Amino acid sequence: MPLDLKGLVTARLGENYALHERHLNSTLVHVQRIIGFDHVYARAQGAYLYDLDERDYLDFLSGYSVFNIGRNHPAVQSALRDLLELDLPNMVQMDCSLLSGLLAEALLKKTPPHLDSVFFCNSGAESVEGAIKFARAATGRTGLVSLEKAFHGLSNGALSVMGDESFREGFGALLENCTRIKMGDLAALETLLAKRDIAALLIEPVQGKGVYFPAGDFYQQAQRLCRAHGTLLICDEVQTGLGRTGRWWGFEHWGLEPDIITVAKSLSGGYVPVAAVITRRAIYQKTFSRLDRCVVHSSTFGRNNLAMAAGLATLQVLDDENLVERARTQGAELMRRLDALKEKHSLIKEVRGLGLMIAIEFHEPRELALKMGWKLLHKVEHELFAQMLVTSLFQKHRILTQIAGHAMDVLKILPPLIIGEREIDRFVTALDAVLTECRSFPGPIWDLGSNFIRHSLKRSAVEPVGAA
Ligand SMILES: Cc1ncc(COP(=O)(O)O)c(C=O)c1O
Repeated sequence: MPLDLKGLVTARLGENYALHERHLNSTLVHVQRIIGFDHVYARAQGAYLYDLDERDYLDFLSGYSVFNIGRNHPAVQSALRDLLELDLPNMVQMDCSLLSGLLAEALLKKTPPHLDSVFFCNSGAESVEGAIKFARAATGRTGLVSLEKAFHGLSNGALSVMGDESFREGFGALLENCTRIKMGDLAALETLLAKRDIAALLIEPVQGKGVYFPAGDFYQQAQRLCRAHGTLLICDEVQTGLGRTGRWWGFEHWGLEPDIITVAKSLSGGYVPVAAVITRRAIYQKTFSRLDRCVVHSSTFGRNNLAMAAGLATLQVLDDENLVERARTQGAELMRRLDALKEKHSLIKEVRGLGLMIAIEFHEPRELALKMGWKLLHKVEHELFAQMLVTSLFQKHRILTQIAGHAMDVLKILPPLIIGEREIDRFVTALDAVLTECRSFPGPIWDLGSNFIRHSLKRSAVEPVGAA
């Protein structure tokens, strides 16, 4: 009997957290319970999730930027249904599939002309691994430079260029000769590059952790130094790519000409994992340099038809619905409205971002009562204040957002690029209400903070394996 998937979902929806606690990441379940995110969603559409009672939740998290075109887009669904009906040969491996050729062609129409070659894989981290290997093979060097606060994924190579120490803790030795510099520190970069053993400088044009980007010409100068010293520039566009920042690629804001770019997340249409490394033919061929090296870097599922169809359909939706332009205009409007809240709420330090990748940073407020609450939370853990706002926006206003990283007072939003006036208004009104509520200390919103303190998130979840 074939699997009755619809029946299975209907019968067991609601067991989600119990199943995960038993068989998957129980620590994550624990954290979701503490921060009040342990909800069961029954369906999703566009910018909204819906629970079993059909209550809507505004998704300003977008699965960490997977849903640039919104959830369950009918055009992607239709392409995937068509693909299944075609019964195409898939992953023959020793052939050249049509759809991967077509997706490569479509992606290259969106990149500058000097980039002409594509390698497909399955995740952002895997695209970063590929970019590192391509850069090492092309330059014959091993060194890598990245920026403080960088996030490039959690596999071992990507972890080696991670800018946040906490992600590396407990995993032992990683790649050698990886150095991190401060964004803006050209002198440090030049000193490192002058040694002439650095294969690549990796940047996220807008950093995912904290939404930081340089105000001046640091990136342009860094690119100049890379060229002068034979180092390649890798732009990790896993989060910033495909319109997120109001341009097709984040690097366009600085007029950069990267040697390699990485793409993932939204290319999937929110359905099928797909990622790509895009580079110049001369770099690409240094990896696939001999006939016996034709699969020296490859990935079994890399060019699979479902992923390619999802990618093709997603690029078309981005074009058809003019979503890159929409991210720019809606992002500008959202930031203008958020910026206006600064006058009313001394807690807001800065609103920054590009397109619909936006951070709201907070600082110690002027008002005495507020100051007390602020100080109390900051004595325990730095990011608790932002977490308190995230939880409050969720519980009281049914809006999903996130904290922007460890030890930061930063709330981050990544709405789908399809949002309009209704969604902007709902978010700005909710944030205004939450910040207004913060003025009552002690008060219900600060009780959330106290609850986090009771469950200090750094508490050990398990004894180390093999511990006495
Ligand atoms: C800039 C950047 N690079 C790489 C990654 C890793 O992507 P994945 O989670 O698909 O491995 C992420 C994920 O958030 C990212 O934001």
